[in-house]
Amino acid sequence: MLVGEKVNLRALEPTDLDNCLRWINDREVTRYLLMGRWPTSRKAEEAWLERQVKGEDPSNKVLVIEAKDGTYLGNIGLHHIDYISGFAELGIVIGRKDYWGQGYGTDAARTLLRFAFQNLRLRKVILRVFGSNIRAQKCYAKLGFKEVGRLKAHILRDGKYEDEIIMEVFAEEFTG
Ligand SMILES: CC(C)(COP(=O)(O)OP(=O)(O)OC[C@H]1O[C@@H](n2cnc3c(N)ncnc32)[C@H](O)[C@@H]1OP(=O)(O)O)[C@@H](O)C(=O)NCCC(=O)NCCS
Repeated sequence: MLVGEKVNLRALEPTDLDNCLRWINDREVTRYLLMGRWPTSRKAEEAWLERQVKGEDPSNKVLVIEAKDGTYLGNIGLHHIDYISGFAELGIVIGRKDYWGQGYGTDAARTLLRFAFQNLRLRKVILRVFGSNIRAQKCYAKLGFKEVGRLKAHILRDGKYEDEIIMEVFAEEFTG
């Protein structure tokens, strides 16, 4: 388990199925995520969860974000981890909307980045975020992420094309 100030990051367990299903079909949450989502069945989510629980893919790792009282808040992960070049892509979702904007996301990302830089010896972490997702961008900026590219009108979401911003933080710029 990775221990932060407000959250702990722990491995996904088969018993997290209902936790994940609760937000995966909530479009108010998934509209911020890059992959456009079809409604997801219990079976499909179970298959995804089973792969995560086995943890056999060293280049894609997802952990649970848990409040200190054990409440499941969401998931956070590193994807496309390249151990040779030393980079990975961060993905994060606080599935509990009532916990947004209270510092949980920043603490979760800080805790995972610390692990990525100090234990996996990654050199940098990148991410992609919608231009309109100001809350997420503020969260990333607090940790030292900088915008390094912007794909204009790139992603169609709810009838509008949105900019996709690419951000990165090098280990030495990380303000965690
Ligand atoms: C993005 C996300 C991980 C951020 O986590 P969080 O716990 O909500 O964010 P934090 O409270 O740590 O930080 C958010 C910052 O934005 C500010 N903020 C909160 N709500 C805001 C809003 N509606 N508009 C603009 N800023 C907002 C907060 O005040 C805070 O900044 P501050 O510390 O300078 O005051 C979380 O909101 C989430 O999972 N959202 C849905 C999915 C998502 O967007 N994932 C990221 C995809 S790239």
